[in-house]
Amino acid sequence: MKIRLFLISLIVNILSFQLWADEGMWLLPLLKQQRLAEMQAIGLKLQDYDIYHPDSSSLKDAVVVFGSGCTGEVVSSNGLVLTNHHCGYSWIQQQSSLAHDYLTDGFWAMTKEQELPNPGLTVTFIEKIEDVSDYVLSHLKQDPDSTGMNFLSPKYLNNLAKEKIGQAFLQEHIGVEVEIKPFYGGNQYFMFTKKIYSDVRLVGAPPSSIGKFGADTDNWMWPRHTGDFSVFRIYADANGDPAPYATTNVPLHPKRWFKISAQGIEDNDFAMMIGFPGRTYKYYTSWEVAERRDVDNTVRINIRNLRQEAMLEEMLKDPAIRIQYASKYAGSTNAYKNAIGMNWAINKHDLEQVKREEQEKLILWSKQSDKPEYPKALQALEWIVSARKDLRFRSWMLDEALSRGIEFTSAPVNLNALIDALNGTDKAKQEEQIRFFTTAANRFFNKNYSPETDMKIAKVMLKEYRSIIPASSQPTYFARIDKQYKGDIDRFVEAIFKQSIFGSETNFNAFIKHPTVKALEKDPMLLFAKSVQDERAAITAALSEFDTDYASAHHDYVKGLLEMYGDRANFPDANSTLRLTYGQKKGYSPRDADYYLSQTTLEGVMEKEDPDNWEFVVPQHLKDLYAAKDFGAYCLKDGRMPVAFTATTHSTGGNSGSPVLNNKGELVGINFDRNWEGVGGDLQYLPDYQRSIIVDIRYVLFIIDKYAGAVHLLNEMDME
Ligand code: ARG
Ligand code: GLU
Repeated sequence: MKIRLFLISLIVNILSFQLWADEGMWLLPLLKQQRLAEMQAIGLKLQDYDIYHPDSSSLKDAVVVFGSGCTGEVVSSNGLVLTNHHCGYSWIQQQSSLAHDYLTDGFWAMTKEQELPNPGLTVTFIEKIEDVSDYVLSHLKQDPDSTGMNFLSPKYLNNLAKEKIGQAFLQEHIGVEVEIKPFYGGNQYFMFTKKIYSDVRLVGAPPSSIGKFGADTDNWMWPRHTGDFSVFRIYADANGDPAPYATTNVPLHPKRWFKISAQGIEDNDFAMMIGFPGRTYKYYTSWEVAERRDVDNTVRINIRNLRQEAMLEEMLKDPAIRIQYASKYAGSTNAYKNAIGMNWAINKHDLEQVKREEQEKLILWSKQSDKPEYPKALQALEWIVSARKDLRFRSWMLDEALSRGIEFTSAPVNLNALIDALNGTDKAKQEEQIRFFTTAANRFFNKNYSPETDMKIAKVMLKEYRSIIPASSQPTYFARIDKQYKGDIDRFVEAIFKQSIFGSETNFNAFIKHPTVKALEKDPMLLFAKSVQDERAAITAALSEFDTDYASAHHDYVKGLLEMYGDRANFPDANSTLRLTYGQKKGYSPRDADYYLSQTTLEGVMEKEDPDNWEFVVPQHLKDLYAAKDFGAYCLKDGRMPVAFTATTHSTGGNSGSPVLNNKGELVGINFDRNWEGVGGDLQYLPDYQRSIIVDIRYVLFIIDKYAGAVHLLNEMDME
């Protein structure tokens, strides 16, 4: 018996080393125990405490959450922060006007006085990370839990965090917040103490023809030639504490900032990235992989394909619409290309089979170790995925085709307060409610809205939706389309645009001039939107019936894997918390006999130049610098100017803006994308295909120095 157990554990230990060399998004407090030796073996020259020290300053102190979904890094003792151009994009856009078009022309503050405040933008430092598993588990045992979901509930967990640290502490420490997050499906908990700065100013941005070069055509693509970076600065009060924008605020003197290496790294050199990856699905079962491919991604790909086709037709017809819909089109294609890439990888690598084998291993091990709860968890997951199939399909169809696909379905439909006011006699109240209504409407029907385009897309979306979803499962208002319009979608859509308050600016203004309850109550577009939103709520409620069982089965499945493999080899799924991933600078071969090198240069920018295509316009000044080979000290040994490189680091959405560091912890690049063949890495790391796409810091320095002449910024930085 002992020998058998020994053999099993031996086999399992061998199996556990199936973890690929560069796989993983590691938690910093677990780095030493889980990964340090492997990192040093491929070149890291640092110790774990240089990267993360619980009590004194370390590299992690120079990494920040930028805004809500990106990463940034501090690069000077005066609070200078680097992130991506696409992460700063909406802030740069808000600073722009016709007179100062910073998106087109770029922006460089030549003095601190010229740096531009961005109300609403924050930068978050992680002050402390603690394993609070015992604390949370003991509370979970005591506390009432009506839904069985406390163990994953952000609200419940964050209350525990506040309780643990105490109100007094939070009051004394300005800008400090605490958060507890579940890891490994709720098998472990960490508490994060965060310090949030809210005076963050725009310092510099290259023109979009550099920062967004290649735009959507090149998005998720390698070889890449985008200078995807922008520069901000954190301001604080005189004590260095967070404070809302004030002219008296001063640049933050941070605990830590990155040294910059203009030496670059070579193929196979060590590289690591620290940042805030958003979400991954490493612990999906085979059934969830199939669901993701056949339901979620397939619906997304089919519907967006139709929608983008319609949108593009309008954009190509009219330059004004092209500008209006540029950002919407980019957002749509970003997730669309991701879905295509993920399905490609699922099939290419048979990820369904990869997960199935893992499940079978667990079942075998559970039998031998007398752990019936793990096979039971697997059965539950299989059942849940099959039971929710139809609902999930309807949910994705509704979302993609009607809720996101058609803009006017987001019209404000909770009009009780407005109707009450209109029914009453209080003029001030009426005006206030009309103002609210106009603001709510403005979120959708603003200068970037084209009724003709939405109308065209709506026709396509509705026809597709109705041809796939059976009548009995459609939003209730659809019955009226049959009755009133004999099912003629085109006629229906045209009619509601003619009649509705939101059909045109003229209609809207006419309503605002003489607002009546009747106009609101019989508005066909509002009724239609309400019907879609009601269906959304109904499906969400029906799907949530599965939540508790799913959460508990997923928790058990992950627990089983951790027990079987030992936690050394397992990293938790991404959940927007601070992680480290390491690997090497490397190219890749996406197809037979095809190989991509790991480094691009300015030559590629010139090769791609197309003055007739806005995505590939190259600014004259950059061409002049190229012609004069005026590259300063930033060029490669062979004299060419580096632009971007790829590494085997395991990154995902949220890692945009993450610092990429050499083996001494010096900044060599800023992460901004992944190759489309690699996005399946969100389900299972793909060692031979998956690459992070990183803007070379030498290109960033070159643009700041030679292109923008903002030498004062370089003088602030510590250059190695
Ligand atoms: N694919 C990158 C990411 O997922 C970049 C997206 C922004 N760029 C764009 N062309 N849409 O965020
Ligand atoms: N562009 C992504 C971001 O904004 C990163 C790409 C990815 O690895 O998914 O976070």
